[in-house]
Amino acid sequence: MEKPKINPNAPTLEKVLSVKHYTDRLFAFRTTRPPSFRFRSGEFVMIGLPGDNGKPILRAYSVASPAWDEELEFFSIKVENGPLTSRLQKIQPGDEILLGKKPTGTLVLDALLPGKRLYMFSTGTGFAPFASLVRDPETYEKFEEVIVTHTCREVAELNYSRDLIASLPDDPLIGEFVREKIKYFASTTREQSDNMGRITDLIETGALFEHLGLPPLNPDTDRVMICGSMEMINDTKALTEKAGLTEGSNAKPDTFVVEKAFVG
Ligand code: A2P
Repeated sequence: MEKPKINPNAPTLEKVLSVKHYTDRLFAFRTTRPPSFRFRSGEFVMIGLPGDNGKPILRAYSVASPAWDEELEFFSIKVENGPLTSRLQKIQPGDEILLGKKPTGTLVLDALLPGKRLYMFSTGTGFAPFASLVRDPETYEKFEEVIVTHTCREVAELNYSRDLIASLPDDPLIGEFVREKIKYFASTTREQSDNMGRITDLIETGALFEHLGLPPLNPDTDRVMICGSMEMINDTKALTEKAGLTEGSNAKPDTFVVEKAFVG
């Protein structure tokens, strides 16, 4: 008799532990983490649900929890007719999701040369990898200042990042460093708030740096990570390159790195 084939790379089934809906477009959830699942803060992995025809529906998601966490966290958009997110948004604690075995990505500290300041520019669910990195002590070991920006259409879409950043000073592992080093800047583009505008416009006009009390981007001191839609990445990357920074990778670390946020 022929033995059934076992695919060593097949996704594992993980249990959903909690789900939090932020708006009708955004939600976050936590799952179990297999002890063998290793990743670097900032990386993404394929996650999904079993499909009707036995074929799983998998998409790339940044892990939003840090590498040391015993559980996994994800921050997701809800797309009405999205093959995965139309179903994923309905998950409840106790349900199971599929988790790929090969986390990877370039929004990692290893892909950047040493520097003084780390900027993380994000829009929408592009904040997810930074939710991981701002909870990793290594981020604060490597940089004197950590600036994380999040821009969304509406104020309520900023709740996930705002609540997470607000909780960090009380974190027993990193609280002390966060208080000294982190700066959070949030802006909206389609609803009135204290800070308005696309991050690209705020970089270009210098309004961001003025607000933070920091000098403009400088390749000698500053390192940049960018995560958002393709257009946001291209536009932010152009401004970062104009400031003299060069794109890095795992194979060749440099002064900035980018990754497209999950969108479908
Ligand atoms: P805007 O409202 O002006 O389109 P989305 O939810 O569509 O992914 O957008 C998230 C945020 O990213 C919005 O605030 C949006 O601004 C902004 N955004 C969209 N495209 C770009 C871009 N090319 N450069 C910078 N920010 C962008």
